[in-house]
Amino acid sequence: MIRRMDFSALIRTASHEQHVEAETSTFMADLLGGRLGVEAYARYTEQLWFVYEALEAAADRLASDPVAGPFIRPELLRRTALERDLAHLRGPGWRESLSPLPATRAYAARVAECAREWPGGYVAHHYTRYLGDLSGGQIIRGKAEQTWGFARKGDGVRFYVFEDIGNPAAFKRGYRELLDAVPADDLEKQRIVAECKQAFALNTAVFHALGEEFPLTA
Ligand code: HEM
Repeated sequence: MIRRMDFSALIRTASHEQHVEAETSTFMADLLGGRLGVEAYARYTEQLWFVYEALEAAADRLASDPVAGPFIRPELLRRTALERDLAHLRGPGWRESLSPLPATRAYAARVAECAREWPGGYVAHHYTRYLGDLSGGQIIRGKAEQTWGFARKGDGVRFYVFEDIGNPAAFKRGYRELLDAVPADDLEKQRIVAECKQAFALNTAVFHALGEEFPLTA
């Protein structure tokens, strides 16, 4: 019999291609290359607010769910940090000017739908965002500090700072153990993997839309 891959390894391997695509999208490459203005970064941060609003509005209700519940951890919650960043980037009136791109609206709607109807799908979205934020997010933070002069781990980049996670590598190991223990059969795991790929695609669509809004003139 073929040795079965742990679910954490399966979801990581299966989404590798989509990860490369998201990571190398023009908008991300331009952002990380320091070629965009702070307004592009603010617009991106604003899009993240809609996604985390959808993810985190459901957190309390899902905390007791057998599939999604173990993933709901207060130290991951990002909304407050995003709101501080937006207040810094946009000023006290940030909330009035908040507007989702159509791609963001679609992404947040899908997260909300999974949160309502399908805890396994919610886990796919949870993994795609939070494990990514704990990983590549740290690279984005460094670049943002360097490019736009935010204080290290301060206002503007608080989204990337997990104050209550002292050891991200250990936290990620624990998270992968939760994935490996997810109470789902093989078919449901395949569905979760497919939703994870979809989650990456939704992120890439937001990057494309942002790329169109902030084209490089050079
Ligand atoms: C330029 C942007 C990005 C960079 C530089 C980057 C970089 C990385 C790196 C270095 C890791 C490996 C960390 C480790 O092995 O512990 C990682 C993992 C991950 N990234 Fe990204 N990433 C980027 C964008 C994204 C995006 C847009 C998403 C999805 C929204 C994402 C989701 C993930 C996930 C889910 C993991 C965890 C994989 C696993 O170990 O299961 N990343 N990223």
